[in-house]
Amino acid sequence: MSITLIINKKKHTVDVDEDTPLLWVLRDTLNLVGTKFGCGIEQCGACTVHINGDAMRSCTLPVSLLKNAEITTIEGLSDDNSHPVQVAWKEIDVPQCGYCQSGQIMTASALVNKNNNPSNDEIKQAMKGNICRCATYKRIEEAVYVAAKLTQEKA
Ligand code: FES
Ligand code: FES
Repeated sequence: MSITLIINKKKHTVDVDEDTPLLWVLRDTLNLVGTKFGCGIEQCGACTVHINGDAMRSCTLPVSLLKNAEITTIEGLSDDNSHPVQVAWKEIDVPQCGYCQSGQIMTASALVNKNNNPSNDEIKQAMKGNICRCATYKRIEEAVYVAAKLTQEKA
């Protein structure tokens, strides 16, 4: 099936089975490999992207459901790494091995894009589905807090 997807504000027409998960189209068809494969069953968050601004798992999301959706991947979060979450991640020096971090950043950015003053509980709640084997959780929470402050300053 031929389907046109809007990814990072550009149209891409791909020829894939309609039940192909978005993650495979991103990585294997379009070479957008910033989005990672972890578990493949919606349990780890490594494959998180934005669909119409919401953080969603791309590993189980069939492309047939995404015809008119605005899809944003880590590559499209900003043109110049200037999104407040990217700035905060660098300031706090969050990553260890880095494997989970694309998904962490996409979950965190969906949160601060909608709520620039999240409580500690709201940060924990938003981030709890993103697993980090290196246990960078404390730095992640700190960086989300910094990103929210930066977002407030930009508003
Ligand atoms: S790879 Fe999608 S949630 Fe783990
Ligand atoms: S930084 Fe290594 S898995 Fe999160």
